[in-house]
Amino acid sequence: MHKAGNYVVGILGARNKDLLIMVEEMQHACDSVRVVTDDGSCGDKGLVTDAIRAEVAANGQPDLCVAIGPLIMMRETAKVTAQLKIKTLVSLNPVMVDGTGMCGGCRVTVSGESKFVCVDGPEFDGHGVDFDELMRRQRFYQPQERGTYEAFLKEHGHDPKDCNLRRLEAAVREKEAT
Ligand code: FES
Repeated sequence: MHKAGNYVVGILGARNKDLLIMVEEMQHACDSVRVVTDDGSCGDKGLVTDAIRAEVAANGQPDLCVAIGPLIMMRETAKVTAQLKIKTLVSLNPVMVDGTGMCGGCRVTVSGESKFVCVDGPEFDGHGVDFDELMRRQRFYQPQERGTYEAFLKEHGHDPKDCNLRRLEAAVREKEAT
């Protein structure tokens, strides 16, 4: 979009500075970048939706908002942009499983119609997506996913109660390097 001559504002959000990704890449791909973290450890303290409101208040309505990230962020972004009347595309990649149209795991209701993210998307009109249904479906296998994750942690010598994914990945990399 930037290369095509559009003025592009990037908004990057994360819980804290350790979880922020691709800041430099976004700085190269955008005309301006706002960074927000929940705890204020990098950029402004707040959520992506706060940054959208701040950007619109400072520089006016954009023609298009593209939201990519966790479902809850895209849902809240779509709510705010609907209020602000900004056309919004969301990328529903996170719900895909096999990506071939075979498993049915990526089914989503958009403007009352059933769609498969991998076949019909993955980008959709954010104002038409039934995020609540999608998030309920995404939690469907949570007990099995948690069980598998905890078994993986134990296998690598970690107490599931005392571990986060980033530390685990570092430990696994260390183990693989030795
Ligand atoms: Fe399996 Fe779309 S990801 S059908």
